[in-house]
Amino acid sequence: MKAYINGVQLYYKESGRGDAVLLVHGFPLNHTIWLPQARALASRYRVILPDLRGHGRSEVPPGPYPMDLYADDLAALLDHLQVERVILGGLSMGGYIAFAFYRKYMHRLRALILADTRAGADAPEGRERREAMARLAEKEGAAAIAAQMLPNLLGPYARERRPALVARVQNMMARTNPTGIAGALRGMAQRPDATPLLPTIAVPTLILVGESDALTPPAEAERMAAAIPGARLMVIPQAGHLSPLENARAVNRAVLGFLADLNQR
Ligand code: MLT
Repeated sequence: MKAYINGVQLYYKESGRGDAVLLVHGFPLNHTIWLPQARALASRYRVILPDLRGHGRSEVPPGPYPMDLYADDLAALLDHLQVERVILGGLSMGGYIAFAFYRKYMHRLRALILADTRAGADAPEGRERREAMARLAEKEGAAAIAAQMLPNLLGPYARERRPALVARVQNMMARTNPTGIAGALRGMAQRPDATPLLPTIAVPTLILVGESDALTPPAEAERMAAAIPGARLMVIPQAGHLSPLENARAVNRAVLGFLADLNQR
């Protein structure tokens, strides 16, 4: 489906009926990273998978795309779908957006799922790296970004044994619009530190991390889990930074268990 949301055409995929679960992809990816979860959840939940502005089949306006703007897009999408409160999951950049959403729209959250993400802001060198990457995308296109990112995204299990998955992730990145890539990079570089937010998070929170996540390693997830009151941490075996794709079965089990417990509260 496509809809005109917050000034741009956004694509989203919706399936199932029940409590709304909104799953947000990372950078420079698209909604398809969450398809295995949509399939597993749709018999009991209304699952919404958006393509963020600048990504997938959504419109690519000029950037930067600050995380607050993405949060506004998601809130407007929920308005469009007449969803008042949501269980919000985000992978990596999707997690940064979840923190922005929490800051701005706390009253609309039922629960949080933070997958392969971090709370901290970029250090100055990190911001410079993002700007260099944004320029590389603008100059040489998305394939150069895909080549640079691929080795760090997937864990050794997928890299060594799942060539089709490797090719799929590479294609997904290489097909992302370079203007969208640059917009997201410059938006991520501006994001504030969400660490002070963690002890204030008052909704049930599930934290997922691939055991071989090289970008946002398990130690990062452990720190977040220790800081968020009552958070549940699941380390996903045989997975790197893209745990929902790399070990869909384990992620599905963790998410279904977390959601079932929410309904007992
Ligand atoms: C992502 O997967 O969304 C990115 O790796 C996040 C980042 O670059 O910080």
